[in-house]
Formats: sequence, C-alpha cells, structure tokens
Amino acid sequence: MSFRNLLGYFMLPAMMAVVTIAACAQLRHPSADRVPHTAMKEALSYKAPFGDTRTASPEIVTAGKALYEGKGGCVLCHGISGQGDGPAAHMQVPHPPADFTNCAFQNEREDGELFWIIKYGSPGTGMRPLIPAMLSEEEGWKVVAYVRTFCAAQS
Ligand code: HEC
Repeated sequence: MSFRNLLGYFMLPAMMAVVTIAACAQLRHPSADRVPHTAMKEALSYKAPFGDTRTASPEIVTAGKALYEGKGGCVLCHGISGQGDGPAAHMQVPHPPADFTNCAFQNEREDGELFWIIKYGSPGTGMRPLIPAMLSEEEGWKVVAYVRTFCAAQS
C-alpha cells in the first residue's frame, strides 16, 4: 500500500475521530454552571438545614469529612486532597472531577448548586446521582460543608 493510500485509509479517519471526540467533549470551564439552566431556580432554593455551609460548625465539617472519605465514596474521584486526584479520577474522561481547592470555583457556586449536583449528578459526566443512593439529604449537606473547607481562604 502506498503512503498516500495509507494516509487515506488510516490516518485521515484517525484524525477525524480525534477531532470528533474533541468536539463532542465540550470541555467546560471549571466555573461554568453545571446545574442545567432549567433546574437552576430549584437548585438555588435548596438550603442546608444548619445555614450557610461555609460557616458550619466543626462537628458538621468532621461528620462531612467522614462521609466524604467513607460511605459517600467521594474520595474515589475527588481525592483526599479535594483536587480531583482520587484513584478513579483518571477514568473521568473527558470531564475530570472538580478541583474543590479552587476558590474561584467555590465562590461561583451557591450551596444549592453543589447539593443539586450531588443529588442529581452532573449530566453527561461520571458524577452520578448520589442522594439517596449513597447519602441521605442530611448527610449530603454535611458533605457540602466539608467540600467548602477545601478552599481555605474563602471570601
Ligand atoms: C466516579 C467518580 C465520582 C465520584 C465517586 C464522585 N464524584 Fe463528584 N464529580 C465527579 C466528576 C467527574 C465531576 C465533574 C462533573 C462536571 O464537570 O460537570 C464531579 C463534580 C462534582 C460536583 C460539582 C462541582 C461543580 O462543578 O459544581 C460536586 C459538588 C461533587 N462532584 C461532589 C461529590 C460528592 C460529595 C461525592 C460523594 C458523595 C462525589 N462527588 C462523588 C466524579 C465523581
């Protein structure tokens, strides 16, 4: 087979596949909304029973950490560090787990948005609906309080 034919039969389809995959991936900026706009009003109406998750008591944060690292299974993808570097993170292609230590991202998110994603998942990504599958709603809120602590300098 000549080089030209080789190019036509193998290289071009391969290159087209790469372009198609890249186009389908629709990589989004970390701060871009994850809650679909049709659900945003509902998401923003969700509030933690204990108030603002950024000022949760140490007891709630400790309970959230135990759920995040244990029963909730969050650590598998989001990692102990919260940076999205857990053991299953590399399988989350093309949408990697959020980096919770990114304060710009945290500041973009209302509590209800984070909770909505834990409850319903992030459509089209490896983030599955985890309430009530893995956590109760009450536990979900405690995990949100813990997720907030990854951004140490919150404003
Ligand atoms: C199988 C891997 C996996 C597991 C387990 C997992 N997540 Fe995720 N999570 C993801 C991925 C991937 C994303 C990014 C989705 C996106 O980009 O829209 C994500 C996104 C999120 C977001 C949304 C961030 C944003 O952009 O608003 C929150 C909140 C979240 N996860 C919390 C959790 C919590 C809490 C748990 C445990 C109860 C958990 N996740 C378990 C993979 C996972």
